Amino acid sequence: MTSDEPQPAAALRSAQWYVGDDRNAYIHRAWSRRGLPPHAFDGSRPHIALVNTASDFTPCNRHLTEVARSVQNGVYEAGGIPLEMPAVSLGESLVRPTAMLWRNMAAMATEEMIRANPIDAVVLLGGCDKTIPSLLMAAASVDLPAIVLPGGPMKSGTFRGRPLGCGTDVWKLSEEVRGGSMSERDFLASEGSMISSRGHCNTMGTASTMGLLSEALGMTIPGMAGTPATDNRLLEGAHSTGALAVELVAERRRPSDIMTREAFVNAIVTLAAIGGSTNGVVHLLAIAGRLGVDLTQDDFDKIGAGVPLLVDLQPAGRFLMDDLYRAGGLLAVLREVQDLLEPGAVTVTGRPLVDYLETANVWDREVIRPRAEPLQDSAGIAVLRGNLAPDGAVIKPAAASAHLLQHRGNAVIFDSIEDMHARIDDPDLEVDADSVLVLRGCGPKGYPGMPEVANLPLPTKLLQQGVRDMVRICDGRMSGTAYGTVVLHVAPEAAAGGPLALVRTGDPIVLDVPARSITIDISDDELAARSPNPEAVEAFADPARGWQRLYIDTVQQADTGADLDFLVGSSGDHVPRESH
Ligand code: FES
Repeated sequence: MTSDEPQPAAALRSAQWYVGDDRNAYIHRAWSRRGLPPHAFDGSRPHIALVNTASDFTPCNRHLTEVARSVQNGVYEAGGIPLEMPAVSLGESLVRPTAMLWRNMAAMATEEMIRANPIDAVVLLGGCDKTIPSLLMAAASVDLPAIVLPGGPMKSGTFRGRPLGCGTDVWKLSEEVRGGSMSERDFLASEGSMISSRGHCNTMGTASTMGLLSEALGMTIPGMAGTPATDNRLLEGAHSTGALAVELVAERRRPSDIMTREAFVNAIVTLAAIGGSTNGVVHLLAIAGRLGVDLTQDDFDKIGAGVPLLVDLQPAGRFLMDDLYRAGGLLAVLREVQDLLEPGAVTVTGRPLVDYLETANVWDREVIRPRAEPLQDSAGIAVLRGNLAPDGAVIKPAAASAHLLQHRGNAVIFDSIEDMHARIDDPDLEVDADSVLVLRGCGPKGYPGMPEVANLPLPTKLLQQGVRDMVRICDGRMSGTAYGTVVLHVAPEAAAGGPLALVRTGDPIVLDVPARSITIDISDDELAARSPNPEAVEAFADPARGWQRLYIDTVQQADTGADLDFLVGSSGDHVPRESH
């Protein structure tokens, strides 16, 4: 069946609302028509929801309102009915205390609204960090045909003749101010150049990573992810995406058909080859959990271990997202590692991802390295274990300092983000370049919301001595635009009873990334005899009501994706009762 042929009414989910001579069908049609012709509701045309995270409070996604117009045109052209559906939107730079606290709420709200409405398929418009993960989690749990349209990265701004990596350069420049090599005035002068256009952050941060991972999972039209937000090809792709959504209904192709274990393997290979954000680990685990796909944190290490780092992008490298697009984009990267990909994993088009690699070319070998000359031989996320992190912790070796990957140093403990801010620049703080900075109380329950604070700033007095990286350990996350030798996602977190709460300042900590271990070098007996520091285990906020109450009571740990325990899995698209 082609997409523009009328379909049997019974085949469409939306027809359950609209088709019939009874009072309920009358109500559904009458209230929805508002200028649409009667044949829009005769059960022959799929109703496609444009689930849109455009919001003035999510500046990276603001342009999606315009992009949605092109999706609408594509839906109409293919014989469907496009319907807008605003979604809970999370602006990474604005939302307090951290957008991650609300990712599961956004996913839950979107899931329920997709299920509750007369929808046959969804186009998911996202961009800023948490928006694509929340949309994918929602779509996975409803399992109606779905397709992701990533909003794309911004055009790179320049400051004093050099391109700015949005996010990454904020950290770098602010560290230069703290280290005394840049004035505050010069720092503030860069502000107007940091965000030069519509679109999300232009480094290999979480937004870029999740857009590219959507494509690796098969959930975008191959070749679309990474298209700059300013490029007309994004609108052209949006048109095609709308048309394909109509076809997805006819083909009955659902997220569970696409996001299989094989697709997640491809996503993990991609995450390593692009040097993607560590946040990709938590989000992929959460999405897999919604689908019942057997995926563990250890898979990221096992599958990613032999994958070379091929993309030279900030924060670890030199270039930016518009350079990656110019150099050939994700498909050109994946062609280099085609032998590591699962050939059977299909995309939203119905064709395997690997089918699209034959015509992909690399146009700039500085940005996308040849397989034989990678930036690093093994770029996967390393999963560490030991008496400090029994359920695991992760580190991104590609963003770390090579000389610190095996390191022994004495712990300097901070019990909360406030404690860290209060003491990190204390001239009397006993710390040197070999110290290991430990920040706890920043996990899912403890903060709450597991913020991106794991790359805590280095003490100013060490910056002034020229120190630019130290081993840091945290139960929180790290921004994808950040860098450093940071052990993060420590599980269980301190507030959930993890041994991280037992460490004391001065304890020797041993990091051995090649051996995949993170340990406190004290005896088991001494560790067992200790009580957790109360300040490390108390949740900063202990709300009596609302989302935060629900979140703290039910959120799982980072090693399984930090979803709420009752949201794991799928409920399908069936709604048993009518509203009247
Ligand atoms: Fe939106 Fe970086 S703040 S992607």
